[in-house]
Amino acid sequence: MLCKSLEMPQLLIPNEASIRTIRNLLFLNSPFSDTNTPAQLVMHPRWAFMDPIAMAMAAAWGGWCQRNGCTMQAENVGGPSQKYAIRMGLFEHLKVSHEPLVQEHEEAGKFIPLTQVRTGADLAAVIGNVSALLHLDKEPHALAAVQYCISELIRNVLEHSGSMEGAYICAQRYTKDPPHVSIAVADCGFGIASSLSYSYPQAEDDDRVALQLSMQLGITGAIKSGMYSSATDNAGAGLFFTRAIAKATGGYFALISGDGAFRIKRLRKGERPLVYQDAFDDPRHNFWTLGWRWPGTVAAAEVLTQNVPNFPTFFRSIVQQLPAKKTVAGKIKFT
Ligand SMILES: Nc1ncnc2c1ncn2[C@@H]1O[C@H](COP(=O)(O)OP(=O)(O)O)[C@@H](O)[C@H]1O
Ligand SMILES: [Mg+2]
Repeated sequence: MLCKSLEMPQLLIPNEASIRTIRNLLFLNSPFSDTNTPAQLVMHPRWAFMDPIAMAMAAAWGGWCQRNGCTMQAENVGGPSQKYAIRMGLFEHLKVSHEPLVQEHEEAGKFIPLTQVRTGADLAAVIGNVSALLHLDKEPHALAAVQYCISELIRNVLEHSGSMEGAYICAQRYTKDPPHVSIAVADCGFGIASSLSYSYPQAEDDDRVALQLSMQLGITGAIKSGMYSSATDNAGAGLFFTRAIAKATGGYFALISGDGAFRIKRLRKGERPLVYQDAFDDPRHNFWTLGWRWPGTVAAAEVLTQNVPNFPTFFRSIVQQLPAKKTVAGKIKFT
């Protein structure tokens, strides 16, 4: 029930709000409060960079605020990156007024603007647009990897989150340093601990345990052989493989739910992209306990597009890397 504290819901966007610097965003904020009006979006006066994780979080936060009857106030929206945020649809989702764009179609962007997905049909539409919007038509394997991640993350929201607003998704293709696609999906639903606690009571009051379990292969069911071809039949594979794709291509991956925030950093040069069954064994991981709770889930992944030479082979090689005995006891059969 809302209305316990007198603080307003407030989201502060730092100068750079990205998966790389996500710690700043997380520790600067406590964006949900029990009071229901007004909500405030405060951009850094010289805010310069928001990548998909920050965009999707802000949009989902805005959806939560609207559900709870908050009017939206905004400060400093006119920074140097205002145009980009407008084109991504950030202010539209937040119902924040902004100057009109002079030439809406002046440059060919490579992004999926913030999109609210509530149904399977919405999801199919997003997946159908990935190739054209991210200009991946000539890179079928990178496209397959990106579509897989987007599809699994959105399906999780539709299947497990109970989110009244559905999922907020956006993605951006960056053409250098290194070439990659950054994907983020956020919801303000039940959160992972709550949904997982039906099968794993130990996850209920511990977001760290819940995140750790949720990223294991086979956590919610039996994994069948022919992993890639029957990916849609596999239970408990979506978060594992999304993390694995990000990791094996060398990209960032993040999962936030409740007061837990997990992240894997990009690979260093020369480092082997080993995928671990237990994400917390990954030497490139961070885990932070927040002083507040994200009421739902945020998942973000980078696919370094040049590192997916062949998606089916790539997919199988990840599974082959795992020692079957170390996977969730008794639930996984590799045949
Ligand atoms: N957006 C979400 N909201 C709530 N719970 C989630 C969400 N995403 C994942 N989960 C939890 O994590 C578990 C593992 O997800 P996943 O690996 O995709 O497997 P599956 O969806 O087949 O169960 C889910 O069963 C669910 O309990
Ligand atoms: Mg899933």
